[in-house]
This record gives sequence, structure tokens and C-alpha cells, in this order.
Amino acid sequence: MSKIRAAITGIEAFLPDYILNNHELSTMVDTSDEWITQRVGIKERRILKEEGKATSYMMAEAARKLLQKTGTNPDDIDLVIAATTTADMVFPATACLVAHELGIRNAWGYDLLAACSGFVFALETVNNFILGGNYKKILLLAGDKMSSIVNYQDRNTCPLFGDAATALLIEPTTEECGVMDHICHIDGSGKDVLFMKAGGSLHPASHETVDNRWHYVYQEGKTVFKAAVSRMADVTEEIMKRNQLTADDLAWLVPHQANLRIIDATGQRAGLTPDKVAINIDRYGNTTAATIPLCLWELEHKLRKGDNLVLVAFGGGFTWGAIYLKWAYDPK
Ligand code: UT7
Repeated sequence: MSKIRAAITGIEAFLPDYILNNHELSTMVDTSDEWITQRVGIKERRILKEEGKATSYMMAEAARKLLQKTGTNPDDIDLVIAATTTADMVFPATACLVAHELGIRNAWGYDLLAACSGFVFALETVNNFILGGNYKKILLLAGDKMSSIVNYQDRNTCPLFGDAATALLIEPTTEECGVMDHICHIDGSGKDVLFMKAGGSLHPASHETVDNRWHYVYQEGKTVFKAAVSRMADVTEEIMKRNQLTADDLAWLVPHQANLRIIDATGQRAGLTPDKVAINIDRYGNTTAATIPLCLWELEHKLRKGDNLVLVAFGGGFTWGAIYLKWAYDPK
């Protein structure tokens, strides 16, 4: 009997209309287009400005388009996993809110928090549900409203992030495609250099937490940069080696988009020419769980069935990992 694998069979995205470019940002904090472009590679990012709209709204918009595009009946979805660091609320899970919004009635699901590695971890998670044999149509959501936890008075972090969400349909396949291999890691070594201090059970919201601006992303950039460069390059090399993949065998490396210099270093270690490395950081910034699927969504019309892709991410925790994926369909 042929092996079952999890295949991405459709992908959609939602990007807010509002574009916050480096010029506007430089009127808000002491920064410049030149600094951001040279040090990070971002020119602009999208911001969800509308009052009362959050991550579940963006995910539901992406998922609605996905169900329509793939001709999927909401009743046939059996699992909803939402990868996010900016859930609408501490609870209920954003997955529940999206399921309600779309009329998904025959599924269960939950949120998965792995910061910028959220998509890689979620794809490997749903892969295991598929391997178990009980799931036929999984809705995988990945997105973040980073603007809700970014301090627009802190030039160290506010240029970096943007808002976006993506939705993917994951189905079993017995063909030679889908998730072929994974390497996923966590450790707590990043807990003091990349975090949001308050709002959890350690520091519930109080006057003190608000006055101290503890409800925003805090990052020691240089330390995180060094860890991200080495670990993303290491897992990329490792997953290519153990699957006997050379640079020529890869159609695309799809890295998390935190800094163009990290992306370039990872591509170089894999021996890839820049034209095989997916990049959208210039237009969207770091959209946390959404960076990799946003790249896939933009590449969809170029991807062919059987194309070899390596997806690789690094994020808060630390969390990091890579997935070797064989694309499952030709452009429709
Ligand atoms: O996605 C999750 C994982 N996150 C990452 O992978 C992010 C990793 N880190 C980075 O990408 C980079 O460290 C940053 C983009 C965050 C920062 O770049 P850097 O080259 O590491 O800069 P730095 O923090 O060492 O700062 C260098 C200088 C400092 O000035 P002095 O002390 O040399 O005078 C900063 O104050 O640049 C200054 N600086 C800025 N200048 C203009 C920091 N932010 C800005 C800014 N505009 N926005």
C-alpha cells in the first residue's frame, strides 16, 4: 500500500489595504528608509486599521476565498488549526471564531503558538493528523495582527512587522508529494531576548504593565539575529542532506521573512542562487506565522506538481524548523 502524506491542495491569503511605508514610519520614530532597507530589507508593510477587526477577521477572509476557490463545503472540513501569536483573545481560540464565522460545523481544532515558526510547526502537526488516517480536509490558518502588539514609539521593533493571514487546505494523498520530511525544535534559550512580557498569567494586565509598555514585542535584535542565521542555515542544510537534495534539485527555498540578511545567509548556505529563494519581506515585512504561506501563495502560479521546496523558520522561544515539501498540483 502506498504511503499517505499531507498535501497542500489550495492556498489563499488576506492582506489589509493600508500600506505603511518607510517614509511614513520615519515621521513616527527616528528612522529612515535607508536604514530599514539596508539593515532589514523592508520597504513597506500592511496594517489592519479597521476598528474591531483582528486576526480571526483576516483568517476568515482568507479561508472564505480558499473554500470558494477549492469548491470546498464548510461541512466537509474536519479539523481547523490556527497558527498565531496574536489570537483575538486569550480565549476562546481563534480557530473557534473562524469556524463560527465560516459555518464550519463538523470540525474540532485549536490555536497553535510557535511565534514565527507557527506555520512550519502547524504544517507538521496537521501532517501527523493526516498520517493517523482519520482526517480528510483540514483547514490550516496562519496569520498575525502584529500591529496589535507593536510599540510604534520603539524604532528597534516597529519597522519590522506587518499584518496578514493565510488559509490552506490540507488533504491526504498517496502520490509522491506533500510533506516528505521535517525537523522541528524548541528550547527556552530565547525567553529573555524575544517576548511580550504581559497579558499572560505571569503578568496579567494592570496599570503597572500598561505604564511599563509590557504589552508590546520586546526583542534584542542582535542576539536573535545570530541565533536565527545559524539555526535556519543549519536545519536547511540538514534536511537537504538527509533527503539527498542538492541545490539543483530544489525549486524554491521558502524562508521565514524576518530580515533579508538572514534570508540571504540561509540561501547561500544551501548553495542556492537568489532566484530560487522566495522573498516578500520588502512588501509585507515580518508577518510572523504568515510569512512562509504568503510566499507560497504568491508563488502558486509558478509551482509545478513534484517541485521540491524547503520551508524554514525561526522564531521566539526559540522555535525553529524546516519542512521538505513536494508541491502537489500544477497551476489551475
Ligand atoms: O522573526 C523572529 C525572529 N526575529 C529575527 O530574526 C530578527 C533578528 N534581528 C534582526 O533582524 C536585526 O537585529 C534588527 C533588524 C532587529 C536590527 O538590526 P541590527 O543590524 O542588529 O541593528 P542593532 O539593533 O545592532 O542596532 C544598530 C544601530 C543602533 O545604533 P548605535 O547603538 O549603533 O548607535 C540602533 O540604535 O542601529 C540603530 N537602530 C536604528 N536606526 C535607525 C535600531 N533600529 C533603528 C531604526 N532606524 N529603525
